[in-house]
Amino acid sequence: MTDVQGILERRLDSAWRRGEPSAVLPDYRERMAALLLVNEEIAKATAFFVEAVAGVEDLATLQAVRNAALSRETGAFTEALALMPSLSVEQKRVWGKALNLAKQLVEAAEKAKRESLERAREDALTLDVTLPGRRPWAGRPHVLAQVRDELLDLFHGLGYSVYTSPEVERDEYNFGKLNFAPDHPARDAHDTYFVSPEVVLRPHTSPGWVRAMEEGKPPPRLVFPGRVYRAEAVDASHMDQFHQIDGLAVGRSVSMADLKATLHTFARAIYRGDVPTRIIPIYFPFVEPGVQMDVQCAACSGEGRIRDEHGEHRCPVCKGTRWVEVLGAGMVHPNVFRAVGYDPEQVTGFAFGMGLERIAMGRHGIHEIRQFLENDVRFLEQF
Ligand code: PHE
Repeated sequence: MTDVQGILERRLDSAWRRGEPSAVLPDYRERMAALLLVNEEIAKATAFFVEAVAGVEDLATLQAVRNAALSRETGAFTEALALMPSLSVEQKRVWGKALNLAKQLVEAAEKAKRESLERAREDALTLDVTLPGRRPWAGRPHVLAQVRDELLDLFHGLGYSVYTSPEVERDEYNFGKLNFAPDHPARDAHDTYFVSPEVVLRPHTSPGWVRAMEEGKPPPRLVFPGRVYRAEAVDASHMDQFHQIDGLAVGRSVSMADLKATLHTFARAIYRGDVPTRIIPIYFPFVEPGVQMDVQCAACSGEGRIRDEHGEHRCPVCKGTRWVEVLGAGMVHPNVFRAVGYDPEQVTGFAFGMGLERIAMGRHGIHEIRQFLENDVRFLEQF
């Protein structure tokens, strides 16, 4: 009759890891004790199965152990129970009872183990809402776009609309109609990129005025933001492309006082409220009179000299001049009005033009103009 034990033990696989049954079935010890009282051999073989169940770490292996014990066709307990009819009444009573207890024990262990493996799998997939969140990476406007938008906002408040004009521009809009003399040095290929003899990459945003006025939708109070190109040798403070915003206001009695008030409003909005500014005369072909607005140098606070770890020396930002140029401006030249078909006896106007890189560099203490175009996020995400 040790056959029954043999049948059970034949199905045990030595590759199965053995675990602690009490960890799976809290009442394992009591149930095993009860089984031992009925039949020791069957209890021993059953303990192997239950330990194998306790030792599996994945559902596939658990299924293999379960099949070896309980499969309806080939399971060890199925086969052992099939022997019962050939046994005597007394044997049936003992073996039958033992096998049933044993089978229930393996079934209970298998069920408990399956549930715990399924729970563990679900836990691994579950979202832990107590973990700190991961912030998605969010982009932001480029530092030059921030300065541009701030200026557009400011001028919007002063009644200006945006006019967009081409980066690839006709020579006559860029120079001729803006009153540049035929031999003006800016017309030289050393200064301006020529696409063909009549077409340039615009070196300033001022040709926008000509286009806007020729379209003739009065009253022009417009700003002209955009990228411009100059044939510069590139270094820390020169790029062969950068950005400007021009402004143009034309009307029956627009005066130099209006220009000064506008520039003053601009300076108060963009720079610290108490920073000194000055307006000095300067020549541009398309304005008369022409002016330049400077702000006091922020690097040396208008001293012209700075002291640092190398001692006292000339301020490198303003080169000792105490002032930094921020824009060009002036009253629109009568020849420009004539070129676009306006009567300079009837209308006057002012215009201004400023560089965005210079404003951003002054504001943020950026000393290297090339960084604006390098697209290094370590630079860009600072602003
Ligand atoms: N277009 C000039 C420049 O690029 C700036 C300017 C604009 C000057 C308007 C006067 C009036 O330097």
